[in-house]
Amino acid sequence: MKHLVSMKQLTEAEIMGILDRADVFKKYGIRELPGKYFVSNLFFEPSTRTKMSFEMAERQLGLDVLPFEASFSSVLKGETLYDTVKTLEAIGINALVIRHLEDNYYDQLINRTSVSIINGGDGSGQHPTQSLLDLFTIREEFGSFKGLNVLIAGDIDHSRVARSNADALKKLGANVTFLCPTEWAGEFDSVSEWDEVIGQSDVVMLLRVQHERHEEESVFTNNSYHEQFGLTETRAKMMKEHAIIMHPGPFNRGVELADSLIECSQSRIFKQMENGVFIRAAVLEAVLKGRN
Ligand code: CP
Repeated sequence: MKHLVSMKQLTEAEIMGILDRADVFKKYGIRELPGKYFVSNLFFEPSTRTKMSFEMAERQLGLDVLPFEASFSSVLKGETLYDTVKTLEAIGINALVIRHLEDNYYDQLINRTSVSIINGGDGSGQHPTQSLLDLFTIREEFGSFKGLNVLIAGDIDHSRVARSNADALKKLGANVTFLCPTEWAGEFDSVSEWDEVIGQSDVVMLLRVQHERHEEESVFTNNSYHEQFGLTETRAKMMKEHAIIMHPGPFNRGVELADSLIECSQSRIFKQMENGVFIRAAVLEAVLKGRN
């Protein structure tokens, strides 16, 4: 695998291979990669989890990480993404983790650069390493995906996490249901009543309302959204005993889920963040080895 840009590119066996490798890293520690590799993290949209966990994984793999700050780069002078990547290629970078606001930004790069591209999130498109760490967290809990009922609730249309997870979970045999205001369902079928689905779900995944991607102001206040579409304490009591709560972060306490649920016993939200380091190490290793 020279690049990882979308969950659509991965077979079931490839997904399992990455999860298995992350499992080894989690159990026995992240091993340094033999050889010398230069990598950089190009984030043109804000990030805490993805950027920092990639950087943690890169350091533990023994990679040379060159810092890049979009707000202090020549992008501000009008340099395009393509020219930025070609510049870093010329300087000797082997792999780039890129987050960009444009859907499918990677199409202009693949086959036009020798640099490996790992997608850290493209607009409302894909977020493959988030999906892989979500899958890893679900597999840790349930052992497999076949027949699992996964409910994804929130701003589906603007969510690269929803899109990546829908592709991957269905490929792995899970049943995926979306819950959201009808106008936020995008290309998916959705439900809008929690009572229809909460009692059957093994995984309840909440998503943030991405106001920054909305063209019109939301008709919801934080409170009205929470009451209609959020995971309230009352709804959480209707969950199966073994069901888990997930959220890719960043979360808005009291909006998409009740404040008290974020660190409750059924929540795996901080576990997801912990697992992100092992998944990103496994992806970096697969991509860098795939270059040889
Ligand atoms: N989940 C996620 O992508 O978080 P960040 O935006 O903080 O990277």
